[in-house]
Amino acid sequence: MVKLGYIMEKKYFIVTYGCQMNVHESEKIAGILKEMGYSAAESENEADIIVFNTCCIRENAENHAFGNIGALKKRKRENPDLLICVGGCMMQEKDMPSVLRKKFPFVDVVFGTHNLYELPALIERRLSSKKRGVVSVLENEGGIVEGREPVRTSFPNAWVNINYGCNNFCTYCIVPYVRGRERSRRPEYILDEVKRLVEQGYKEITLLGQNVNSYGNDSGLMGFPELLDRVASVEGNFRLRFMTSHPKDFNEELVRIIAKHDKICNLIHLPVQSGSDRVLQRMNRRYTSGEYLEKVKMLRRIIPDAEITSDIIVGFPGETEEDFEETMRLVHEVNFASAFTFVYSKRKGTKAAEMPDQVPEEVQKERIMRLIELVNSQTREKSEKYVGKVVEILCEDFDAKKGYYLGRDVYGRMGYFKSEENKIGQFVKLKITEASGISLYGEEV
Ligand code: 5AD
Ligand code: SF4
Repeated sequence: MVKLGYIMEKKYFIVTYGCQMNVHESEKIAGILKEMGYSAAESENEADIIVFNTCCIRENAENHAFGNIGALKKRKRENPDLLICVGGCMMQEKDMPSVLRKKFPFVDVVFGTHNLYELPALIERRLSSKKRGVVSVLENEGGIVEGREPVRTSFPNAWVNINYGCNNFCTYCIVPYVRGRERSRRPEYILDEVKRLVEQGYKEITLLGQNVNSYGNDSGLMGFPELLDRVASVEGNFRLRFMTSHPKDFNEELVRIIAKHDKICNLIHLPVQSGSDRVLQRMNRRYTSGEYLEKVKMLRRIIPDAEITSDIIVGFPGETEEDFEETMRLVHEVNFASAFTFVYSKRKGTKAAEMPDQVPEEVQKERIMRLIELVNSQTREKSEKYVGKVVEILCEDFDAKKGYYLGRDVYGRMGYFKSEENKIGQFVKLKITEASGISLYGEEV
C-alpha cells in the first residue's frame, strides 16, 4: 500500500449510493484511504478528497450521482487540489467512464468495482502527473482480494461479504453486467472475519451476497446452509442475518439451519418481484407465484414466527392490470413484514430494455401508489400488534434531534426509547407503549 506521507492530516469524505453491498464497499474504500494517511471528514466541505461510490440499479440513482458530482465544479475551480474520485457500479457500465469524463472533466480519478485496491496507485498517478484525470476500470472481475481492513461505520452492525457477482440475469437487472460472475470467498476467511467482529463487540452480523443461496457453487468448497450453520456456531452473543435470498434456491435445508440457531434472525428477505407468472417468466426469475407461496408456507411451517420482507417491481414491460392485480393478491396472501417497492427502470444493455410494451409512466405511478398503500397497511397493522408487548432491540444509534435512542428488533422493526445512559451496542428490552407508522416507542424494562 502506498503511503502518501505528504498528505498526512488530509481528510476524506465518501458519498455512497445504493445497496448494503455499496455501503460496505465504501467502508473498504475508507480503510484504503485510512491506510494512505487520510482521516474521516465530518462533511464534504472539509474534505481534501471526495469519493463517489455510485449505483446504477435504477435511473434515479444515476441522476443523483450526476447531480452531486456536477455540483462540485465550482469548488474544484476554487481549489484545484481537491481530489474528486468516482467509482462503483455506474463506472462499470459500458461507455460510462467516457460519458462521465466528458460531462465532468474536472474528475480526477475514475475506478470500477473490480479494482478498488488500485485506488492508492491511481491517486498517486493523478498526484504525480500534470495530466487531468486517471481512468482505470477493469472489465473482468478477477479474483477476490483478502486481508484489507475496512473502516466500519455502523457499529454494532457489521457486514461481511460471502460472495460477489451474479449469474442469474434477471432481464430487468444490470447487476450481472457490472458486478461480473459469481465468486465465493473461502469459508475460513468468512469465519475468521466473523470471529474477529464478535470479539470486537459487534452484535449483529449480516452476510452479504447478490444471491447468498448460490454461495459455493463456483468453488465447490461449501454450500450456503453449511456456511450459515458454521457462522451461527461462532461463540458469542450476536444476531445473524443474511441477504439476498433468491426464491428459486431457497430451500428446506436452509430453513432447518435457520430454525436450529437462535442467533439467526427469523426475518427472511425473499424478493418476489411480481405475483404474475407471465411477468415472472419474462423477468427470467425461474419460479412461479405458486412455487413462491409454497416456499413461504414451508418456511412458516418449520418456523411459525418467521417474517418475510420483499422487493417488488411494478410496471415491468408488458405488465397488464391483471398482472398487477396478481401481485396485489400475492402481497395480500403473504402479508409481508415490509417490502421495497420499485417502479421498473429501463437499464440499457438488459433484455427487458428491448421488450415491447413498455408501461407508460402514469400507469406505473398509479400502480405503485396502490401497492405502497397495501404494503404500508400490512406493516402498520403488524406494528400495532406490538403495543403492550416486550421486545428486545439492539440499540444502534442516538437521535439527537428527537432525544431518543433507537434500535431494531429481530424483525427489523425500529424501536425508540429514552435513556440517561449510552446504550449503543447493547441489547435492550423495551415495553412498547406506542406504534406510530412503522416506528415503535417504548420504555426500558
Ligand atoms: N428497475 C426497478 N427495480 C429494479 N431492481 C433491480 N433492477 C431494477 C430495475 N431495472 C430492484 C429489484 C431488486 C432490487 C435490489 O432492485 O427489485 O431486488
Ligand atoms: Fe439482479 Fe436477479 Fe442477480 Fe438479484 S438475482 S442481482 S435481481 S440479476
